[in-house]
Amino acid sequence: MNLIVAADSKWGIGKNGGLLADLPTDMKYFREHTEGKAVVMGRKTLESLPGRKGLPKRVNYVLTTNPDFKAERCIAVHSEDELWDALSRYEPDDVWLIGGASLFNWFYSMCERLYVTKIDADLDADTFIENFDEDPDFEIISESEPVTENGITYRFRVYQRKAD
Ligand SMILES: NC(=O)c1ccc[n+]([C@@H]2O[C@H](COP(=O)([O-])OP(=O)(O)OC[C@H]3O[C@@H](n4cnc5c(N)ncnc54)[C@H](OP(=O)(O)O)[C@@H]3O)[C@@H](O)[C@H]2O)c1
Repeated sequence: MNLIVAADSKWGIGKNGGLLADLPTDMKYFREHTEGKAVVMGRKTLESLPGRKGLPKRVNYVLTTNPDFKAERCIAVHSEDELWDALSRYEPDDVWLIGGASLFNWFYSMCERLYVTKIDADLDADTFIENFDEDPDFEIISESEPVTENGITYRFRVYQRKAD
């Protein structure tokens, strides 16, 4: 499993239940990496998507404790055991963890690579993830040139789990 997230300078990822910024090139990057794959998200992230529907061209798994949860294009999973069971049919590189903070913080250490769109600004977030730079198990293996959109500069960075 890999993870994909956009995080600001303080590792903020969301505000008022939504994203921090409108970054079209980042959205394209997200689509290119996740289309045709399985994506895993928490119920609150699903609620933030347009129309409260799963993402098109992807198999959408939504974690929720609500046994009655239903949403278009989504497969509900109700526990970690149920999630790992559902994901066992995929190759690890075909599964993407896409948020939100609760899932990132619980599961990032199980990911092989962390695709972080690192925003060079404090966007006044209310939802944060761990600082991956402080995790000795991961190292940066690539970083793009800066991209500036809507007055915000960011880079596409990839962290890889270190070999044992
Ligand atoms: N910047 C980015 O790349 C990015 C990406 C994704 C999301 N976000 C942002 O992150 C924020 C949402 O993050 P969040 O942490 O508040 O919510 P979240 O992780 O999206 O969803 C939390 C919900 O997931 C369910 N859940 C989590 N762990 C579970 C488990 N072990 N078993 C069963 N259900 C479980 C629960 O749903 P129930 O309450 O239904 O039980 C929980 O309330 C939003 O602002 C969103 O825009 C940012």
